Amino acid sequence: MGCSRSLSLLVLAVLLSSVPSSTAVREGDEVFETVQPNGVFYVFADKEIQVVDPNGLKVTKSITTDQSGAPLTNAQNESRTWNDATFLEDPATNKYYVFVNEGDIYTNADGSEYSYVTVIDTLIAEVVGRVKVGALPVHGYSVVQLKQFWSHSDIDGSFFVISLDNINATAASVADFKTKTGHGKLLLDDSLYPRAYATNVNEQVIEEIDLPTQKRTNSFNYTSFLPDPSMCTGTHSVTYSNISQHAFFECADNMGVFEWNTVNNSFVAFFSNITGYVSAAPGDDEVLVLGYDSNINILKPQGNGVAAVPQYTVLVNGDPDLNPVYWSPSTSNNAQPATDYVVFLALKQNTNIYNLKAAAALNVSVTDDSYMSAPADCTYANNTQKAGSRRLLDMDMSSDTVGMVLANGTNGLPQTPNCGACAPGVADANPADYDASLTGLAYVNFTAIQADAKQGTDATAAVIPAGAIAQTVSGDSSANQCSYGETDRAAKRGGPWIATVANFPQSSLYVVDGATQKVHGFVPTAPHPSKIAWAPFRGGNPPVAAAQGGAGKKL
Ligand SMILES: *[C@@H]1O[C@H](CO)[C@@H](O)[C@H](O)[C@H]1NC(C)=O
Ligand SMILES: *[C@@H]1O[C@H](CO)[C@@H](O)[C@H](O)[C@H]1NC(C)=O
Ligand SMILES: *[C@@H]1O[C@H](CO)[C@@H](O)[C@H](O)[C@H]1NC(C)=O
Ligand SMILES: *[C@@H]1O[C@H](CO)[C@@H](O)[C@H](O)[C@H]1NC(C)=O
Ligand SMILES: *[C@@H]1O[C@H](CO)[C@@H](O)[C@H](O)[C@H]1NC(C)=O
Ligand SMILES: *[C@@H]1O[C@H](CO)[C@@H](O)[C@H](O)[C@H]1NC(C)=O
Ligand SMILES: *[C@@H]1O[C@H](CO)[C@@H](O)[C@H](O)[C@H]1NC(C)=O
Ligand SMILES: *[C@@H]1O[C@H](CO)[C@@H](O)[C@H](O)[C@H]1NC(C)=O
Ligand SMILES: *[C@@H]1O[C@H](CO)[C@@H](O)[C@H](O)[C@H]1NC(C)=O
Ligand SMILES: *[C@@H]1O[C@H](CO)[C@@H](O)[C@H](O)[C@H]1NC(C)=O
Repeated sequence: MGCSRSLSLLVLAVLLSSVPSSTAVREGDEVFETVQPNGVFYVFADKEIQVVDPNGLKVTKSITTDQSGAPLTNAQNESRTWNDATFLEDPATNKYYVFVNEGDIYTNADGSEYSYVTVIDTLIAEVVGRVKVGALPVHGYSVVQLKQFWSHSDIDGSFFVISLDNINATAASVADFKTKTGHGKLLLDDSLYPRAYATNVNEQVIEEIDLPTQKRTNSFNYTSFLPDPSMCTGTHSVTYSNISQHAFFECADNMGVFEWNTVNNSFVAFFSNITGYVSAAPGDDEVLVLGYDSNINILKPQGNGVAAVPQYTVLVNGDPDLNPVYWSPSTSNNAQPATDYVVFLALKQNTNIYNLKAAAALNVSVTDDSYMSAPADCTYANNTQKAGSRRLLDMDMSSDTVGMVLANGTNGLPQTPNCGACAPGVADANPADYDASLTGLAYVNFTAIQADAKQGTDATAAVIPAGAIAQTVSGDSSANQCSYGETDRAAKRGGPWIATVANFPQSSLYVVDGATQKVHGFVPTAPHPSKIAWAPFRGGNPPVAAAQGGAGKKL
């Protein structure tokens, strides 16, 4: 351990000259969001990866085939499923890559499962590799110090590591990392390096990892520190503030947040009534806890060993995605305490006009599934097709749904109001059924809220109209007819811009100016844009992308 630490310090020292330091790390590539104002967004859509010039509002290239010339489809001939995508570079070897986890699961002859990570060379804007990793990779991280992409397999509960210098090699899983199968994340931070921590929603332990050796070094069972061991049955999101040198862990299933001293690996505090996705602001001076109840609670880190102090609450209407995107005027270095920052949150609100109408008539939330009848009420052309591509032929209008208007899908067949288990699927949804003007991005300027003397009281986020997204169909066959799956909406900072995807009024990428919080414009994309990565132009190596595709519209 001592040996690997001094080696990595050497690596870090060399790196400091090329990569500015950044403390508030979430996916590892945040450092590239501020170093260069010019660059392109990579948008991952149905069977296409599109390169978008945010300034000129133009798709400059559409990638439709992989490294072997095959279309970007899975075993069912549907689009590959795109999960986390991050940028990583090695200027010394002229490598500038975007890595993207593919969510599709494939089966080996022996029954074991696996998935892939796709690798794009951003200098030529082409897929140059596809690496086998553990099944169902969701989160992925750029470990810039090691020039490695760490892909978390939710089936294995482990990380699979791909080195930038050999994307053709089989990814190895982190040694001695015995976790249960389950969704998990990695806590990366320059100040913690070479250490990292990992979470798992199904396990009551904190895993400590030595990144350079790819080994688990510690495993801490935290249950004895809780008022009741059943209060935190696993950990989900995790963040770090170097002000206290504490990590903050979100308990899975909305069961609070706890604070952990990384200096001596000791428990600090448990916040049972503050729940949600944890995220340190640029400068680490505030830890945001984005609640599933749409409230952002602020924790103020104190000195080492001292518990953070709860501050105030900001309400974000419109069903915010929990991955915050920070923008601050600082373009050179994120490491300074930066109270002058804005937080953008992509809104996932369901803007289906029939749902809105029903919600108003029945006085219920549009995301409340209790007012609809059961899946058994739906009759499909083919019940074995997966939810979302089923064609609904008929439904039993129970008393709960009296007065609702049945929409006709673009397929000409009647549908329940394009919602839940009876939804026609994104590709078939009729844009006329959605009021996209109601939603987009929420933004919060914490400095302004504090200056307005609202500290200690509730404040409300503002909305920037930037298109709407379709709800995810519930994959659960026993789900209530109009209940939804978990909908995500991606947003990403790139230089001066904040980008977010939209399905309505059309499939597109919206581009917002971070400084003015105004929409710069939108760029129509291939159907179902999901994830976004940012590839900055670096040094004398601006990415090459042939000019083609349609231009967007300045708003
Ligand atoms: C896959 O789908 C495309 C249309 O999206 C079709 O042209 C092609 O023939 C299909 N391939 C196979 C192997 O079914
Ligand atoms: C990966 O291997 C293929 C041949 O199998 C080669 O053409 C390609 O250049 C390699 N890619 C990299 C980045 O090494
Ligand atoms: C993190 O905090 C420690 C202890 O105060 C300090 O030594 C270190 O320089 C800080 N790291 C960064 C990147 O500021
Ligand atoms: C953690 O400790 C508790 C209480 O001793 C025990 O019930 C539980 O099984 C332990 N969990 C793990 C993953 O070791
Ligand atoms: C949580 O509880 C503490 C004390 O029990 C209280 O001071 C704080 O306001 C509560 N926070 C929230 C968000 O309810
Ligand atoms: C860890 O460090 C903090 C701050 O110095 C101290 O208060 C605490 O007692 C230490 N915990 C252990 C278990 O050593
Ligand atoms: C709608 O429901 C809310 C509680 O969910 C209630 O406060 C309100 O009075 C209701 N409005 C009407 C018109 O029934
Ligand atoms: C129903 O859909 C499944 C999956 O797409 C397909 O395999 C099956 O052949 C279809 N059955 C009929 C009767 O169309
Ligand atoms: C759907 O189409 C049927 C005819 O097929 C029509 O009677 C009905 O009014 C349409 N519903 C809506 C909401 O447009
Ligand atoms: C946040 O609000 C403050 C006070 O109104 C203002 O001075 C500052 O420029 C705003 N910050 C950003 C990043 O817009």
